[in-house]
Amino acid sequence: MARPPSTSDDEIFDLRLARSAPDLWPMLDTIYGHREDYSDFRAALLMVLKKGWKDRPADLKALDLKRDLEPDWFQRPDMAGYVFYIDRFAGTLRGILDKLDYLDDLGITYVHLMPCLKPRPGDSDGGYSVMDYRQINPAYGTMEDFETVTAALRARGISVCIDLVLNHTAKEHAWAKQAAKGDATYQDYYLMFDTPDVPRRYEQSLVEVFPDNAPGNFTYYPGIGKWVWTTFNEHQWDLNWANPAVFLEIVEIMLFLANRGVDVLRLDAVAFMWKRMGTRCQSEPEVHMLLQALRACSRIGSAAVIHLEEAIVAPAEMLPYLGRGKHDGREGNLAYHNSLMVQFWSALATRDTRLMTHVLGTHFPDRLTNATYATYIRCHDDIGWAITDEDAAAVGATGHGHRNFLSQFYEGSFPGTFAKGALFQVNEATGDKRISGSLASLAGLERAMEAGDAAGVEAAVQRVLMGHALIASYGGIPLIYMGDELALTNDYGYLQVPEHAHDSRWIHRPAMDWAVAGHRHDGASPGARVFWGTKAILARRRAVAALHGGVPVRVVSAGVAGLFAFVRVAPTGVVLCLFNFTEGWSRVPEAWVRGVGVTAMHDLLSDHPVEVFDGHVALPPYARVWLA
Ligand code: GLC
Ligand code: GLC
Repeated sequence: MARPPSTSDDEIFDLRLARSAPDLWPMLDTIYGHREDYSDFRAALLMVLKKGWKDRPADLKALDLKRDLEPDWFQRPDMAGYVFYIDRFAGTLRGILDKLDYLDDLGITYVHLMPCLKPRPGDSDGGYSVMDYRQINPAYGTMEDFETVTAALRARGISVCIDLVLNHTAKEHAWAKQAAKGDATYQDYYLMFDTPDVPRRYEQSLVEVFPDNAPGNFTYYPGIGKWVWTTFNEHQWDLNWANPAVFLEIVEIMLFLANRGVDVLRLDAVAFMWKRMGTRCQSEPEVHMLLQALRACSRIGSAAVIHLEEAIVAPAEMLPYLGRGKHDGREGNLAYHNSLMVQFWSALATRDTRLMTHVLGTHFPDRLTNATYATYIRCHDDIGWAITDEDAAAVGATGHGHRNFLSQFYEGSFPGTFAKGALFQVNEATGDKRISGSLASLAGLERAMEAGDAAGVEAAVQRVLMGHALIASYGGIPLIYMGDELALTNDYGYLQVPEHAHDSRWIHRPAMDWAVAGHRHDGASPGARVFWGTKAILARRRAVAALHGGVPVRVVSAGVAGLFAFVRVAPTGVVLCLFNFTEGWSRVPEAWVRGVGVTAMHDLLSDHPVEVFDGHVALPPYARVWLA
């Protein structure tokens, strides 16, 4: 009798292992191969992977198969993300179940549940100081609730992203507590020094992430008698990735979370994972080896899961997180397009897109392998003016001068500015001034409303919508940050909260305004207009195949100072995306539009034909068009 044609679970594991082994072992050989215990480590890792796979629920195994067959699922134009703090959006995890219709209404197919694992008590850096990776923050619910919610979201076709903080743990994590007690095994999980000499030598080339409230990169604990590496806050202890035990622990945690229904792991602050004396200890080559190896582990044990790598760094340093050279197609599936965000704000303030066109046109490839960007205009973090002196010089500006201008403009102190924000982490030594503020307030809504300036309100609404149209078309998953779809303005309440008052990022982490949301379908309030406009943008994005993340993007220039333009070069023809970054009318010659390949003069965003007048396409203030 013929054997029934089915593949056993073990066979599937072996196939997946065979597929990804070449991506995995050479990385680990390089990093840990010199160690005496290396073969034990390899055996242990195999066991962890097998166990993860064995424990994987049947419905998620089916999802693995589906995504093996549709590996571009996350690049498709129907992907649209929404990022929120669970308590601020829905109270609790289960509260999300009541908000599914809202997410559907907006057209959301991906949610990033901001840090939801058990944080340390008190100030936890918004949950990024994790004390237990296997428990949900008790204020939000339980792991069972979490599984209920991920299943409900999955049933609606919504993928779930959560944070995996792997650069550091809270000092209250069980490993850290053991280390503090003097347990050498766990002390080796962290970077601890008996004397200040080595820390001092490292400090010479390190930068400070939170210079205001957490200066320096090391903390001395008299009780332990050691200096501990603490890049971020004092309570966040950097993990020692040179120790293979850390790698094993994190892989186990990754598979554990994957098996609870997570689709996207947002690997937090990855740039800092590897330390090398004499460097900034950011984006060292070993970081990419580790990340490629972690990616291979997910592909073996939970194939449906992809990785979003958070590295808020300059373009040349960011791109490798999406795989370059020997890591091509093998590292992060997603990484934040920080430059697109920075350039959006820069061009809005100057009404001049030359720097934006230069940076996006020269530093980014037209396509990526097995990867795409996470595009965004605002997020829960501050905006750092990551504009190099060289790039500024290329358009006749000075880096320092321009960065300083942007800080003043968005803080709200520059004469004539439309924006209202707050400074974050002013660094006297470097002159660095980062900015906090909500999308709507930075785009001018708050100031215009206070002044009763109707034209200013109109301009702010249009700026917000232009931003959303930009991130929906550039390529990648657009991430709408909670509240931005309703034009929520700055929330100054954080100044009254002792754990938050020192951190102006809370100004743009408001509670959801369900009253405004309730009126999203009626009235002409800025909130309703932005909601409707954002919803329309996401709906049109879904309808335009050329916006698939795999379709090359090429930045072009019409030679008009206030216009930003790129073409998506699809097999079916080009789509020219045009944005007017000024409050005045602008125009481009029809001949130029046709020259970049537009044939139909149809705006795919409004789904209306575009009239040519006097040989030109006219663009109203803050216009955005996707011309086919
Ligand atoms: C990431 C988070 C940020 C946090 C930092 C430290 O960059 O986005 O909010 O402060 O990591 O964990
Ligand atoms: C720095 C870090 C980034 C973090 C941010 C928080 O930019 O590189 O990882 O999100 O600080 O403000």
